[in-house]
Amino acid sequence: MLYDDLKHYINKEMASFHTPGHKGTKIFDQPIWDLDLTELPETDSLYEASGVLFKAEERVKKLFGSNKSLISSGGNTLCIQTMIRLASLDKKPIIAGRNIHRSAVGAMALLGIQPEWVVPEYDKDINLPGGINPENIKNRLDKIGIPSAVYITSPNYHGMLSDIKSIAKECRKRDSLLLVDNAHGTHLKFLKNSLHPLDLGASMSADSAHKTLPVLTGGAWLHIKEQNLVDRAKEAMALFGSTSPSYPIMCTLDICTHYLMTQGKKDFSELVEKTKKIKNTAIEKGFIVSKGMCDPTRITFSARPIGYTGNALAQYLRANGVEPEFSDENYVVLIPSPFNSNEDWKRLEKSIINLKPKKTLNFSRQPDKITLPETHMTIREAVFAKHKKVSLENSIGKVAGEIICPCPPGIPIVMPGEVIGNFEKELLILYGISEIHVVK
Ligand SMILES: Cc1ncc(COP(=O)(O)O)c(C=O)c1O
Repeated sequence: MLYDDLKHYINKEMASFHTPGHKGTKIFDQPIWDLDLTELPETDSLYEASGVLFKAEERVKKLFGSNKSLISSGGNTLCIQTMIRLASLDKKPIIAGRNIHRSAVGAMALLGIQPEWVVPEYDKDINLPGGINPENIKNRLDKIGIPSAVYITSPNYHGMLSDIKSIAKECRKRDSLLLVDNAHGTHLKFLKNSLHPLDLGASMSADSAHKTLPVLTGGAWLHIKEQNLVDRAKEAMALFGSTSPSYPIMCTLDICTHYLMTQGKKDFSELVEKTKKIKNTAIEKGFIVSKGMCDPTRITFSARPIGYTGNALAQYLRANGVEPEFSDENYVVLIPSPFNSNEDWKRLEKSIINLKPKKTLNFSRQPDKITLPETHMTIREAVFAKHKKVSLENSIGKVAGEIICPCPPGIPIVMPGEVIGNFEKELLILYGISEIHVVK
């Protein structure tokens, strides 16, 4: 049974450097079963909230300084769907950063939205994808020439941030909305100087609270700054959401609101210090560590200079009782939170110190420039067309029916509706993808 399999894993007592942010800490005493309620006169109803859920949303709104904050137990996926629906209401054109999560592409397919893509920067120094350049957004907004909606993902999976303040300024000048997928950055509000999208000028921010905070998986918030989007927000969420939102998840979101209000700043400044210390240990050992505009609590490092691919390093960490969030050929990503124990940190530090250096490995080949494939049909047309699965060899010249992204962190190589060329084929091979759904 899955229950036994999960228990088997739990019994290994790995140090969790992955989501969710609660790290197994029980933030309330009540057995979860007791809290698993439904809509009753006393428990309110999420999409028509006027009672206890409304009050919980009012507490988050106050904490984040929004004009409305919506609770989601359907993850950030539901917040992203809601956000895109709200932006689409008056049919504004959408400009989107290409490093986009599949949930946004799915929402675009369902809503019939065809965005204009902006490719994020790539830091060749450290071989990591970076943020979206505000200059590129400005140029695109000027080219479109009418109020639009800009959709960006910041921080990205590696913790790299976009310059939201400058992007927001360009958007405001042109009466355009700025939507931020802040899945990995809910806690940015609680740094010494907030880096939360809403504080930097975003119109809406979708926050996957469960990734870095003490919230059950699935708990997220959508914060809305634009007053004129508030009225239709619940209706937009109800279009996609389950009619049975989870009370245990919603309850952890509210307990987390209280936790952040009372302890957020203190705990996250301590976490920044712990992260800094571990990054220094890694640098002394010879690792490459992400730098520049990045989330100071995310640990993204590579041990290639001392002979380990990202995947080999992750395997080594696992063998030493440390479970990372993600690894690829180059990097390992660790997601710590204030709920990691001292033992977790010690185990991680000891593992880094004890790693035996080997012969340097150069970084695996990255394309010099990302050129986007040609678009043959809209995302919606391609997703709803008839598909067939073909090998990569047979995919050249065919139209992709699905999003292909070396997930989780990457920039999608092909979007539904785009034509697969040699360049895309080579990239897909590089990421170990061998088959693809194409339009029949
Ligand atoms: C950048 C980004 N956006 C959105 C999501 C979706 O969030 P959730 O899993 O909370 O639905 C993820 C999940 O990994 C993500 O990495």
